[in-house]
Amino acid sequence: MAKILDVKDLCKTYVIDKRQNNVLKNINFSIEEGDMVAIMGPSGSGKSTLLYSVSGMDRPTSGAVTFNGSNLQELSEKELTRTRLSGMGFIFQQMYMMKNLTVLDNVLLPAFENKQGKETRKEKVDRALFLLRKMGIVEVADHDINEVSGGQLQRACIARSMINRPRILFADEPTGALNRHASGEVMEEMTKLNDEGTTIMMVTHDAKVAARCKRVFYLVDGSIVGEYDNTGDKNASLPERERKLNQWLLELGW
Ligand SMILES: Nc1ncnc2c1ncn2[C@@H]1O[C@H](COP(=O)(O)OP(=O)(O)O)[C@@H](O)[C@H]1O
Ligand SMILES: [Mg+2]
Repeated sequence: MAKILDVKDLCKTYVIDKRQNNVLKNINFSIEEGDMVAIMGPSGSGKSTLLYSVSGMDRPTSGAVTFNGSNLQELSEKELTRTRLSGMGFIFQQMYMMKNLTVLDNVLLPAFENKQGKETRKEKVDRALFLLRKMGIVEVADHDINEVSGGQLQRACIARSMINRPRILFADEPTGALNRHASGEVMEEMTKLNDEGTTIMMVTHDAKVAARCKRVFYLVDGSIVGEYDNTGDKNASLPERERKLNQWLLELGW
């Protein structure tokens, strides 16, 4: 498998009122094409900061992040924006969608912003409808975004994040605002996307969600203090995977 993301000695320090806060301390890992990785850890341990730093949304203080062979720190703002738009998808806990636009138009927005694609307008619309169908919400394509449920909105966010065929999907607590049922549905869709080859890196508080991932990183105070390999348990049931993961988390002080 090819390496898609390589992170070397990544540090992120915030300075507020001359006080240094070393939020990420020498983080090292790499992610292969087709991986599905969960980042867990206590609140404030730096999970979101890590996700933003490796996805080019935020500039690290030091260290190197190589995505798909290019060092993100060496890219200009413009090149970085282009790389993010065409190669990466993003899903957040707070669902940012444009009000006054339909679900379909929201999903289409990044496709129209992406000047690299060669698709016609019709091909983009067809792909958006295909993704909405795949997420099971094509019937609300023409609805205003305030006319759909939280679960539907989050599935629309996933459709939107996939519109430009990203190599990797970054998600920060994608199920954090959902009830158990909707959370299960969203994870079902994300697992399918991963089965089809999309690499996924997500932050989650939920062991049930992380149990579906292939690897779990545990972050404490800006350092990865443990990594859990879930791939040996491929055939175990979800509750069994969750039970074993919980056991591991407990040992780490979760
Ligand atoms: N933009 C920022 N400016 C200053 N400090 C920040 C900023 N973002 C996060 N932090 C600090 O970094 C630490 C880790 O935050 P965060 O990555 O959001 O943690 P987590 O996602 O694990 O809850 C916290 O101490 C937080 O206050
Ligand atoms: Mg966070």
